[in-house]
Amino acid sequence: MRLLVNVDHVATLRNARGEGYPDPVEAARVCEEAGAAGIVFHLRKDRRHIREADVYRLKENVKGILDFEMAATKEMIETSIDVNPHLITLVPESREELTTEGGLSMDTVFEDFKSRVFPKIRETDIEISLFVDPNPGDIEKAAELGSDAVELHTGTYANARTEEAQKHELHRLKEAAEQAHKLGMKVNAGHGLNLNNTEALVQTVPHLHDISIGHALVSSAVFMGLENTVKAFLEIMEKYN
Ligand code: PXP
Repeated sequence: MRLLVNVDHVATLRNARGEGYPDPVEAARVCEEAGAAGIVFHLRKDRRHIREADVYRLKENVKGILDFEMAATKEMIETSIDVNPHLITLVPESREELTTEGGLSMDTVFEDFKSRVFPKIRETDIEISLFVDPNPGDIEKAAELGSDAVELHTGTYANARTEEAQKHELHRLKEAAEQAHKLGMKVNAGHGLNLNNTEALVQTVPHLHDISIGHALVSSAVFMGLENTVKAFLEIMEKYN
Protein backbone atom coordinates (compact mmCIF):
# COMPACT_ATOMS: atom_id res chain seq x y z
CA MET A 1 0.00 0.00 0.00
CA ARG A 2 1.45 3.36 -1.07
CA LEU A 3 0.61 6.92 -0.10
CA LEU A 4 0.30 9.37 -3.00
CA VAL A 5 -0.11 12.97 -1.89
CA ASN A 6 -2.35 15.26 -3.91
CA VAL A 7 -0.76 18.73 -3.95
CA ASP A 8 -3.67 20.60 -5.63
CA HIS A 9 -4.50 22.61 -2.54
CA VAL A 10 -0.98 23.87 -2.06
CA ALA A 11 -1.61 25.52 -5.43
CA THR A 12 -5.06 26.72 -4.24
CA LEU A 13 -3.36 28.60 -1.41
CA ARG A 14 -0.74 30.03 -3.74
CA ASN A 15 -3.34 31.17 -6.26
CA ALA A 16 -5.39 32.89 -3.54
CA ARG A 17 -2.86 35.71 -3.53
CA GLY A 18 -1.31 35.36 -6.96
CA GLU A 19 2.14 34.92 -5.43
CA GLY A 20 4.65 32.22 -6.23
CA TYR A 21 4.26 30.52 -2.83
CA PRO A 22 3.56 28.05 -1.42
CA ASP A 23 5.02 26.05 -4.29
CA PRO A 24 3.35 22.67 -5.00
CA VAL A 25 6.65 21.35 -6.36
CA GLU A 26 8.44 22.19 -3.11
CA ALA A 27 5.53 20.54 -1.23
CA ALA A 28 5.96 17.45 -3.40
CA ARG A 29 9.65 17.32 -2.48
CA VAL A 30 8.88 17.50 1.25
CA CYS A 31 6.18 14.79 0.92
CA GLU A 32 8.51 12.44 -0.93
CA GLU A 33 11.31 13.03 1.57
CA ALA A 34 8.86 12.23 4.38
CA GLY A 35 8.13 8.87 2.73
CA ALA A 36 5.25 9.39 0.31
CA ALA A 37 5.55 7.06 -2.69
CA GLY A 38 4.46 9.72 -5.12
CA ILE A 39 2.42 12.74 -6.02
CA VAL A 40 -1.01 13.32 -7.54
CA PHE A 41 -2.37 16.44 -9.18
CA HIS A 42 -5.61 17.24 -10.96
CA LEU A 43 -5.24 19.62 -13.87
CA ARG A 44 -8.77 20.98 -14.13
CA LYS A 45 -10.30 22.61 -17.18
CA ASP A 46 -10.61 25.89 -15.26
CA ARG A 47 -7.01 25.66 -13.87
CA ARG A 48 -8.28 26.69 -10.44
CA HIS A 49 -5.31 25.13 -8.68
CA ILE A 50 -2.64 23.25 -10.63
CA ARG A 51 -1.52 24.89 -13.89
CA GLU A 52 0.43 23.63 -16.91
CA ALA A 53 3.72 25.07 -15.65
CA ASP A 54 3.26 23.17 -12.33
CA VAL A 55 2.62 19.94 -14.22
CA TYR A 56 5.87 20.12 -16.17
CA ARG A 57 7.85 21.11 -13.07
CA LEU A 58 6.30 18.23 -11.12
CA LYS A 59 7.27 15.86 -13.93
CA GLU A 60 10.84 17.14 -13.73
CA ASN A 61 11.14 17.01 -9.95
CA VAL A 62 9.00 14.16 -8.60
CA LYS A 63 11.17 11.10 -8.03
CA GLY A 64 8.44 8.55 -7.27
CA ILE A 65 5.07 7.86 -8.84
CA LEU A 66 3.36 10.68 -10.72
CA ASP A 67 -0.42 10.33 -11.02
CA PHE A 68 -2.08 12.77 -13.47
CA GLU A 69 -5.74 13.06 -12.53
CA MET A 70 -7.96 14.51 -15.25
CA ALA A 71 -11.16 14.56 -17.24
CA ALA A 72 -10.94 12.59 -20.48
CA THR A 73 -11.05 15.60 -22.80
CA LYS A 74 -9.03 15.73 -26.01
CA GLU A 75 -6.91 18.58 -24.62
CA MET A 76 -6.15 16.77 -21.35
CA ILE A 77 -5.30 13.50 -23.08
CA GLU A 78 -2.82 15.32 -25.31
CA THR A 79 -1.25 17.13 -22.35
CA SER A 80 -1.01 13.99 -20.24
CA ILE A 81 0.62 12.01 -23.03
CA ASP A 82 3.12 14.83 -23.49
CA VAL A 83 3.88 14.83 -19.74
CA ASN A 84 4.15 11.02 -19.63
CA PRO A 85 3.28 10.32 -15.97
CA HIS A 86 3.30 6.78 -14.55
CA LEU A 87 -0.45 6.81 -14.13
CA ILE A 88 -3.47 8.63 -15.51
CA THR A 89 -6.55 8.64 -13.28
CA LEU A 90 -9.67 9.52 -15.24
CA VAL A 91 -12.34 11.37 -13.29
CA PRO A 92 -15.64 13.08 -14.08
CA GLU A 93 -15.44 16.86 -13.93
CA SER A 94 -17.96 19.65 -14.01
CA ARG A 95 -17.07 23.31 -13.77
CA GLU A 96 -19.45 24.15 -10.94
CA GLU A 97 -18.37 21.48 -8.48
CA LEU A 98 -16.20 22.34 -5.47
CA THR A 99 -14.40 19.04 -5.87
CA THR A 100 -14.89 15.76 -7.74
CA GLU A 101 -18.32 14.71 -6.60
CA GLY A 102 -18.39 11.02 -7.40
CA GLY A 103 -17.02 8.29 -9.59
CA LEU A 104 -17.38 7.98 -13.35
CA SER A 105 -20.73 6.77 -14.61
CA MET A 106 -19.27 3.85 -16.52
CA ASP A 107 -22.45 3.22 -18.52
CA THR A 108 -22.31 6.79 -19.81
CA VAL A 109 -18.60 6.90 -20.69
CA PHE A 110 -18.09 3.29 -21.79
CA GLU A 111 -18.38 3.62 -25.57
CA ASP A 112 -16.36 6.84 -25.70
CA PHE A 113 -13.62 5.40 -23.49
CA LYS A 114 -13.54 2.22 -25.58
CA SER A 115 -13.36 3.87 -28.98
CA ARG A 116 -11.42 7.10 -28.24
CA VAL A 117 -9.78 7.38 -24.82
CA PHE A 118 -8.26 3.94 -24.19
CA PRO A 119 -6.84 3.42 -27.71
CA LYS A 120 -5.09 6.82 -27.51
CA ILE A 121 -3.57 6.26 -24.06
CA ARG A 122 -2.70 2.66 -24.96
CA GLU A 123 -0.27 4.01 -27.58
CA THR A 124 1.88 4.82 -24.52
CA ASP A 125 3.08 2.87 -21.47
CA ILE A 126 1.06 5.02 -19.07
CA GLU A 127 -1.17 3.01 -16.72
CA ILE A 128 -4.85 3.87 -16.59
CA SER A 129 -6.96 4.06 -13.44
CA LEU A 130 -10.67 4.84 -13.46
CA PHE A 131 -12.21 6.70 -10.52
CA VAL A 132 -15.42 4.80 -9.73
CA ASP A 133 -17.95 4.48 -6.98
CA PRO A 134 -17.89 1.09 -5.26
CA ASN A 135 -20.64 -0.31 -7.50
CA PRO A 136 -20.34 -3.80 -9.03
CA GLY A 137 -21.61 -2.61 -12.42
CA ASP A 138 -19.03 0.18 -12.72
CA ILE A 139 -16.19 -2.12 -11.70
CA GLU A 140 -17.26 -4.73 -14.21
CA LYS A 141 -17.27 -2.12 -16.98
CA ALA A 142 -13.81 -0.86 -15.93
CA ALA A 143 -12.48 -4.41 -16.28
CA GLU A 144 -14.21 -4.82 -19.63
CA LEU A 145 -12.28 -1.78 -20.87
CA GLY A 146 -9.03 -3.40 -19.72
CA SER A 147 -8.27 -0.72 -17.15
CA ASP A 148 -5.09 -1.33 -15.15
CA ALA A 149 -6.69 -0.06 -11.95
CA VAL A 150 -9.77 1.42 -10.39
CA GLU A 151 -9.63 4.14 -7.79
CA LEU A 152 -12.51 3.57 -5.41
CA HIS A 153 -14.29 6.77 -4.46
CA THR A 154 -14.17 6.95 -0.67
CA GLY A 155 -16.09 10.24 -0.41
CA THR A 156 -19.40 8.65 0.60
CA TYR A 157 -17.59 6.75 3.36
CA ALA A 158 -15.79 9.92 4.45
CA ASN A 159 -19.07 11.84 4.61
CA ALA A 160 -21.03 9.14 6.45
CA ARG A 161 -22.11 10.63 9.76
CA THR A 162 -23.30 7.60 11.71
CA GLU A 163 -21.38 4.50 12.66
CA GLU A 164 -23.94 2.38 10.83
CA ALA A 165 -23.56 4.40 7.63
CA GLN A 166 -19.76 4.21 7.88
CA LYS A 167 -19.91 0.44 8.32
CA HIS A 168 -22.22 0.13 5.35
CA GLU A 169 -19.85 2.17 3.15
CA LEU A 170 -16.80 0.24 4.32
CA HIS A 171 -18.59 -2.97 3.42
CA ARG A 172 -19.34 -1.66 -0.09
CA LEU A 173 -15.69 -0.62 -0.51
CA LYS A 174 -14.48 -4.03 0.69
CA GLU A 175 -16.71 -5.89 -1.77
CA ALA A 176 -15.69 -3.55 -4.58
CA ALA A 177 -11.99 -4.07 -3.81
CA GLU A 178 -12.43 -7.84 -3.83
CA GLN A 179 -14.30 -7.72 -7.13
CA ALA A 180 -11.73 -5.43 -8.80
CA HIS A 181 -8.85 -7.59 -7.56
CA LYS A 182 -10.54 -10.74 -8.83
CA LEU A 183 -10.95 -9.09 -12.22
CA GLY A 184 -7.21 -8.43 -12.34
CA MET A 185 -7.16 -4.70 -11.63
CA LYS A 186 -5.13 -2.81 -9.04
CA VAL A 187 -7.22 -1.23 -6.32
CA ASN A 188 -6.57 2.41 -5.47
CA ALA A 189 -8.70 4.58 -3.21
CA GLY A 190 -9.20 8.22 -2.38
CA HIS A 191 -11.30 11.26 -1.64
CA GLY A 192 -12.14 12.77 1.72
CA LEU A 193 -9.59 10.71 3.65
CA ASN A 194 -8.17 12.25 6.82
CA LEU A 195 -6.27 11.31 9.96
CA ASN A 196 -9.49 10.04 11.59
CA ASN A 197 -11.07 7.94 8.86
CA THR A 198 -8.08 6.43 7.03
CA GLU A 199 -7.34 3.74 9.59
CA ALA A 200 -10.73 2.00 9.38
CA LEU A 201 -10.48 2.06 5.59
CA VAL A 202 -7.02 0.50 5.35
CA GLN A 203 -7.90 -1.99 8.07
CA THR A 204 -11.11 -3.15 6.38
CA VAL A 205 -10.55 -2.91 2.64
CA PRO A 206 -8.22 -5.53 1.13
CA HIS A 207 -5.82 -5.26 -1.84
CA LEU A 208 -5.28 -1.52 -1.53
CA HIS A 209 -2.44 -0.29 -3.73
CA ASP A 210 -2.36 3.54 -3.96
CA ILE A 211 -4.12 5.78 -1.46
CA SER A 212 -4.55 9.33 -2.73
CA ILE A 213 -4.96 12.05 -0.10
CA GLY A 214 -5.06 15.79 -0.64
CA HIS A 215 -7.29 18.35 1.05
CA ALA A 216 -7.23 17.00 4.60
CA LEU A 217 -3.50 16.30 4.43
CA VAL A 218 -2.68 19.83 3.32
CA SER A 219 -5.12 21.18 5.95
CA SER A 220 -3.53 19.17 8.77
CA ALA A 221 -0.13 20.38 7.58
CA VAL A 222 -1.12 23.96 8.51
CA PHE A 223 -1.03 22.86 12.15
CA MET A 224 1.34 19.89 12.15
CA GLY A 225 3.74 20.70 9.33
CA LEU A 226 3.80 18.83 6.02
CA GLU A 227 6.54 16.37 6.92
CA ASN A 228 4.87 15.37 10.20
CA THR A 229 1.47 15.04 8.54
CA VAL A 230 2.77 12.74 5.81
CA LYS A 231 4.51 10.65 8.48
CA ALA A 232 1.29 10.47 10.52
CA PHE A 233 -0.64 9.09 7.52
CA LEU A 234 2.18 6.65 6.77
CA GLU A 235 2.18 5.43 10.35
CA ILE A 236 -1.51 4.59 10.07
CA MET A 237 -1.02 2.78 6.76
CA GLU A 238 2.09 0.89 7.83
CA LYS A 239 0.15 -0.88 10.58
CA TYR A 240 -1.77 -2.74 7.86
CA ASN A 241 0.92 -3.14 5.20
N1 PXP B 1 -8.80 10.94 -5.79
C1 PXP B 1 -9.51 11.57 -6.74
C2 PXP B 1 -9.87 10.84 -7.97
C3 PXP B 1 -9.87 12.93 -6.57
O1 PXP B 1 -10.58 13.56 -7.52
C4 PXP B 1 -9.44 13.61 -5.41
C5 PXP B 1 -9.73 15.06 -5.26
O2 PXP B 1 -9.07 15.78 -6.25
C6 PXP B 1 -8.70 12.89 -4.47
C7 PXP B 1 -8.42 11.55 -4.66
C8 PXP B 1 -8.22 13.53 -3.21
O3 PXP B 1 -9.30 13.89 -2.45
P1 PXP B 1 -9.10 14.78 -1.16
O4 PXP B 1 -8.54 16.08 -1.63
O5 PXP B 1 -10.48 14.88 -0.59
O6 PXP B 1 -8.14 14.03 -0.28
